[in-house]
Amino acid sequence: GKGDKDLLSPDRVLNVAHRGASGHAPEHTIVAYQLAKKMKADYIEIDLQMTKDGHLIAMHDETLDRTTNGTGLVKDHTLAEIKRLDAGSWFNEAHPDKAKPAYKGLKVPTLDEVLRHFGHSANYYIETKAPEIYPGMEEKLLKTLEAHRLIGKHAKRGKVIIQSFSPESLKKIHALNPELPLVTLLWYENQQGHITKRELDEIKTYAIGVGANFDRIDRAYVQKVRKSGLLFHPYTVNEKPDMKRMLDWGATGMFTNYADRLTDLLKKN
Ligand code: G3P
Ligand code: CA
Repeated sequence: GKGDKDLLSPDRVLNVAHRGASGHAPEHTIVAYQLAKKMKADYIEIDLQMTKDGHLIAMHDETLDRTTNGTGLVKDHTLAEIKRLDAGSWFNEAHPDKAKPAYKGLKVPTLDEVLRHFGHSANYYIETKAPEIYPGMEEKLLKTLEAHRLIGKHAKRGKVIIQSFSPESLKKIHALNPELPLVTLLWYENQQGHITKRELDEIKTYAIGVGANFDRIDRAYVQKVRKSGLLFHPYTVNEKPDMKRMLDWGATGMFTNYADRLTDLLKKN
């Protein structure tokens, strides 16, 4: 595709399909990722959880309850148990207007299955979720990426980006593989987002970018991040006027449940 050589160039705007095309299809299913590709997203975003028997799976929550017909913690269930669950019907019930019979009975994919399915035809923006409750998650992630040759000598820079709210998790990955591009995630709950030069300099020791919730930041925040030499990827930007504002402020990409809308907007720019 376009300018694939410089995925991490600050002059590019990266369209990151948040949990796949999750505005249209059940999040973190192969179907949602396929749709994201079709909508010309630059990246498939994948949240990782780890099963009781040590498999990395694509799921946002630490519990099975919201996005499957199961209940309880992911870490208390084996992969075999999770594979019996329906990861699509909840979407049909929650979004009758977007429901499709084909979503019924979709399975929770493992990271390995996602990478096997898309191989080098996609780029991956992967989040280590709750790494503090999953010892060994980082090592397992790097091993899986290596097995698929998505990192290392043969891989294009930017093919995989790793993100986390846990600086410890990112620093661990950085120590294991200093070449891998990392993005540190920040979340501003009720207060206006604020970041110091000192914090940005510290982030720069291991990461190439920052992600933050778009609704608590302003132009000065984005420009401060950008001036420090870091990329900036706000989340989760679903409406076109918000997308436009983020671009105007200097975002170098964004997470969206509607990759189609961002693709459309970028075409017109
Ligand atoms: O990873 C960026 C954004 O997805 C962080 O929020 O909760 O959707 O993973 P969350
Ligand atoms: Ca995420």
